[in-house]
Amino acid sequence: MSILHGKKVLLGITAGIAAYKTASLVRLFIKSGAEVKVIMTPASKDFITPLTLSTLSKNPVYSTFYDKEDENELWNNHVDLGLWADIMLIAPATANTLSKMTNGSCDNLLLATYLSAKCPVYFAPAMDLDMYKHPSTKSSLKSLQAFGNIMIPATSGELASGLVGEGRMAEPEDMVSFIENDMLSKLPLKGKKLLLTAGPTYEAIDPVRFIGNHSSGKMGFAIAATAANLGAEVFLISGPSHQVIQHSLVHRINVTSAEEMYSACHKHFAEVDIAILSAAVADYRPKNIATQKIKKKDTALVIELEPTKDILKSLGEIKKQQLLVGFALETNDEISNAKKKIEKKNLDMIVLNSLRDKGAGFAGDTNKITIIDSDFKEKTFPLKSKKDVAKDIVNQIIDKLSI
Ligand code: CTP
Repeated sequence: MSILHGKKVLLGITAGIAAYKTASLVRLFIKSGAEVKVIMTPASKDFITPLTLSTLSKNPVYSTFYDKEDENELWNNHVDLGLWADIMLIAPATANTLSKMTNGSCDNLLLATYLSAKCPVYFAPAMDLDMYKHPSTKSSLKSLQAFGNIMIPATSGELASGLVGEGRMAEPEDMVSFIENDMLSKLPLKGKKLLLTAGPTYEAIDPVRFIGNHSSGKMGFAIAATAANLGAEVFLISGPSHQVIQHSLVHRINVTSAEEMYSACHKHFAEVDIAILSAAVADYRPKNIATQKIKKKDTALVIELEPTKDILKSLGEIKKQQLLVGFALETNDEISNAKKKIEKKNLDMIVLNSLRDKGAGFAGDTNKITIIDSDFKEKTFPLKSKKDVAKDIVNQIIDKLSI
């Protein structure tokens, strides 16, 4: 899946002959799963029609602040458009527009939106070779990059004038790859490895029965998706769960029992930077597993249980560089029990759920958490969807890593 999936892309088109290539550009963004809105300078409409671009982007195309001819026309709000975008791309960017961008001129909707945008802004210069070489253009390119805008360099080749040289707008495919690579390289967890446990464990009683719990794995899988979307390589060690995840950075390792989860965690722990243990691991397992199905009798059945290994504690005992995060599900004395677990298991952070909070816990789609770090600093979050809770947890970890 492209990193552009679900992103809002604002494409600004200015009046250069390369504007005809923006039809393919819009298609490529849409194919990668992005949502696209287009703003055109009035003169760019001489090179490609708004109808083509609105058909391909499935959105209206904006080019003026309002339509003088149409009394019912709403004002096209440059501030809203600028804030809507996750990224803005100005392509083709003519010498005229580049120069105006450096000076803060805003005599058209595109320029006013550029000034309002808070998101990363990419620009792809396109012009004839002598215009591209001119010191004034060079100075615009330098200033815009100093503002933090990102240039997608022009390439060399045959130009519309018939001359050959530098000034051709990058090809649409190359622009999309450029933006994808740039976004990937800036992800906050890029290059980090994460070990994550999720779901329940099942402890066998006999070949057909087990002791388990109601954990769905939803919380852990949401953390896996969030961390992978932020660039982490995730080793997701999951007990039996119906959750599915498809992400090139997530390696799912299925286990059944606490013992299998313990072995899988120890196999990967040395190589990771972060470990989050969100699984609801069984604390006890049957001491002897019957090899045949246990037959029904009239008398009571007694199954002797023995403790499982505490995976989190065992990782706390050997941790080096790893940031170790545990979960605590409590019913009473929540904060003090969670703090005791931080010390007992040598944790950097614990995520506390209280079963007394409505909407927190195992099977539902929501959770309410308090995060406590090793200095006993507490942060309580309101009830949220598990996806949003996952974002809070991962953001807290990113903050801790960047201290
Ligand atoms: N955990 C673990 N291995 C176990 C039991 C728990 O790794 N055998 C981890 C869980 O994944 C969670 C944390 O330990 O991150 C806390 O689990 P919890 O059951 O709340 O705590 P316990 O230490 O088992 O204490 P208690 O059940 O008495 O509250």
